[in-house]
Amino acid sequence: MPAELAIGIHDLSVATTQYVLTHATLAAHNGSDVAKYQRGIGQRSMSVPAADEDIVTMAAAAAAPIVARHGAERIRTVVFATESSVDQAKAAGIHVHSLLGLPSATRVVELKQACYSGTAALQFAIGLVHRDRTEQVLVIASDVSKYDLGSPGEATQGAAAVAMLISADPALVRIEDPSGMFTADIMDFWRPNYRNTALVDGRESISAYLQAVEGTWKDYTERGGHKLDELSAFCYHQPFTKMAYKAHRHLLNYCGYEVDEARINGAIANTTAYNEVIGNSYTASVYLALAALLDTAGDLSGKAIGFLSYGSGSVAEFFAGTVVPGYRAHLRADAHREAIDRREDIDYARYREIHTHAFPVDGGDYPVPRETTGPYRLAGLSGHKRIYEPR
Ligand code: HMG
Repeated sequence: MPAELAIGIHDLSVATTQYVLTHATLAAHNGSDVAKYQRGIGQRSMSVPAADEDIVTMAAAAAAPIVARHGAERIRTVVFATESSVDQAKAAGIHVHSLLGLPSATRVVELKQACYSGTAALQFAIGLVHRDRTEQVLVIASDVSKYDLGSPGEATQGAAAVAMLISADPALVRIEDPSGMFTADIMDFWRPNYRNTALVDGRESISAYLQAVEGTWKDYTERGGHKLDELSAFCYHQPFTKMAYKAHRHLLNYCGYEVDEARINGAIANTTAYNEVIGNSYTASVYLALAALLDTAGDLSGKAIGFLSYGSGSVAEFFAGTVVPGYRAHLRADAHREAIDRREDIDYARYREIHTHAFPVDGGDYPVPRETTGPYRLAGLSGHKRIYEPR
């Protein structure tokens, strides 16, 4: 893409929850060896939302600093990607639009395809900016990952939101053509409408992910994408951080490279710092990997990085981006670290209480106790309506 047509990520901001459950606490409760979590799947802790937090409050907390820095005048579209939506009809982004006071001349829409839809949102945003280079699009990926207590998936729960401002002449990352795409109709992970916890075939989901890595890479290279060696780092979807290592090892094998662990570490290690303490944030996960890479690696100016976005069911996309020289002046590394470090450690009993809490479904009035110290909260339910407010 010629420099004058560069479109991509102009700003990126992360938010997570009030609480955190460590894998040491989970292991002490269920008798597992904590090394299975910390080394086996590469997870140390998971974000847990307070009763007055959800995908909307995290999304607004992630997006507010972007609006504060750039203003809302050029934002004409908000695309909200999630698979833990709070309503079957209304887009969660409309609550965010209202909390942030965005202009009424805005289109707001919600997208779903498991963990993949954050990338669909990014690509739709790029298309809109191509049509009108003065427009900026606010893309928000926000999710709460929840599995049954005691299930193998429990250790891979988490919650976070990533907000990204997509614009022409971006300050952080130029997103490039081509993309490699892959879709396969499989039931590796799903959540029927009547459940609030996901169902998963763990082993099947890992092989489906690896199959998608091959499929997207094949399409990507056939369409003239970078050679593997031209990419300095790889941001994979990280349901647990060891999955990124598995995926990259698989890709190297598929491409006929000798699999050398130092080479895999070099491509992945800088992308895992946030996901290993936040857990699976579904749509946000691959962009948390990007945030960690930009915030924690040495200077990446001018370097090309690969992205593999996977959503069970399944749809995947491989694409690349080039880091814009001068990007470091625009990062929010301190705020991201602060959002992670401010979480309150909870014990297993409190986690269990939060996990099993569900609102009654009779449409009555249910105020929610004030718990979060984040900037926005769910104040309660009234007449089947969710009520949000600044804290
Ligand atoms: P499990 O049965 O609890 O664990 O399930 P395991 O026995 O397979 O062990 C996990 C790893 O820990 C293994 O390593 C063990 O060897 C190792 P591997 O062989 O895989 O390299 N291990 C140890 N290491 C050190 N010390 C020890 C020890 N013990 C064992 N003492 C599983 C693990 C990931 C399947 C489970 O957590 C699960 O079902 N998770 C949810 C599904 C998932 O995350 N799938 C990933 C791909 S699908 C995806 O990414 C999409 C998704 O994000 C949803 C969406 O798209 O919306 C999930």
